[in-house]
Amino acid sequence: MEHSNHLSKTEEIERLRSAYQLLAEREQNLRVLHSFALNLLQQHTLQDVVWAIVKHAIAKLGFFDCVIYLLDEQKQILVQAAAHGPKNPHEMDIANPIIIPLGRGIVGSVAETRVPEIISDTSQDSRYILDDDFRYSEITVPILDGDRLIGIIDSEHPEKNFFTQQHLELLQTIAAMAVTKILHAQAVERLRAHQRGLEERIEEQTRDLKEHIVELRKSNQDLEGFAYAASHDLAEPLRTISSFLQLIQRKEKGLSGDSLEYMDFAIAGVHRLRRLLDGLLIYARVGQKPIEQNILDLNSTMLTVQSNLSQLIKEKKATIQYDRLPNIPGDESSLIQLFQNLITNAIKFHHKERPPSITITHLAQETHHQFSFQDNGIGMEEIFFEKAFKLFGRLHTIQEYKGSGLGLALCKRVVENHGGEIWLDSQIGIGTTVHFTLQKSTNQVPK
Ligand SMILES: Nc1ncnc2c1ncn2[C@@H]1O[C@H](COP(=O)(O)OP(=O)(O)O)[C@@H](O)[C@H]1O
Ligand SMILES: [Mg+2]
Repeated sequence: MEHSNHLSKTEEIERLRSAYQLLAEREQNLRVLHSFALNLLQQHTLQDVVWAIVKHAIAKLGFFDCVIYLLDEQKQILVQAAAHGPKNPHEMDIANPIIIPLGRGIVGSVAETRVPEIISDTSQDSRYILDDDFRYSEITVPILDGDRLIGIIDSEHPEKNFFTQQHLELLQTIAAMAVTKILHAQAVERLRAHQRGLEERIEEQTRDLKEHIVELRKSNQDLEGFAYAASHDLAEPLRTISSFLQLIQRKEKGLSGDSLEYMDFAIAGVHRLRRLLDGLLIYARVGQKPIEQNILDLNSTMLTVQSNLSQLIKEKKATIQYDRLPNIPGDESSLIQLFQNLITNAIKFHHKERPPSITITHLAQETHHQFSFQDNGIGMEEIFFEKAFKLFGRLHTIQEYKGSGLGLALCKRVVENHGGEIWLDSQIGIGTTVHFTLQKSTNQVPK
């Protein structure tokens, strides 16, 4: 009190004026912080957030310059992310970002200690690194998430003793306001990079898959080409052989019993080879046809098959039972082959003691229909369950049962071409059930 009594009026006015100025300055700073806070809410990418700090906070607070560095945790370096002032002529375009290893210079040192610093005279500080021009004051504030360093806000000024405790508090406030936004933006960027990586991998896999399909098609075409050549080109010499055999038969009237028998074997062999080649051609052709979008009524497919096999069914006194079958998209002639082969097998491999009885059931699943063709025939051992579906895979000699061993291989090809699977269950002396699935729609078939 005594002290103030000695103040002159002008000194009093001067004191009030500077107090007012200080207040006005603080109010101005608060306004900047307030508008920065609002602006920050609009920013979402990492780049936008750091540029909002320099453009909407630091620049408006009247700092001479400012650089924001973000920590690259893996490389343990600070990378310039945004800048304001003479060092950054082009807005938001940092061609060669400044890179500072931890521990180097004042910035690197604050990054290590995580303690903000004001340097009032950089010429007295051995850590100072001269850049474009000597600046005597520097203020360096870490952006922290708890103890974890996220980045650095750094500002320099040409005059000595420029930065005050108040500046430091301001920068700390700005750093604190920005940190969650920066963390969030960094997380989003990592997520995006991850997503991009995933997308690239999916693309790569799709490409691989397409190449595979092309290769598969090519090998199918090769197979078809082979089968075509086999059945056409080999047919010619086969015909030659068989006609010469017949010529010999006719000419050599006096063929003895044995020779006559050998001649019959030879001719039968030729016929069998002919049938094998025909079967191979059918096998190769199935799967070449793209699955039509049109819907088939499997009940009518079944009627066609029963009519094709009517002679055999009558002869063997076979019975076939089935509930109403569903409609599915597919290739009719292939599905006729499928049903016909399964029913033929069920009749062919019937049990001596009872007439063949075949029961066909089906079950609608989510994407497929499952069918089961059950018979009461001779059955087979489990070790043959897979072999039966192989090309020329037969479990019996040709003397026991006639056949080419192509039937079930053909069935497998048809089913797979309709996006399904085929397998079987069997018990010796009791019977066999062949199960398979067919797609409800063609959407899943790769084109
Ligand atoms: N319903 C069935 N019951 C018993 N065995 C069967 C049945 N279906 C197929 N097999 C066995 O699987 C083998 C392969 O069948 P398939 O490919 O149709 O050839 P095949 O020309 O001999 O009929 C047959 O030779 C037979 O041994
Ligand atoms: Mg068969």
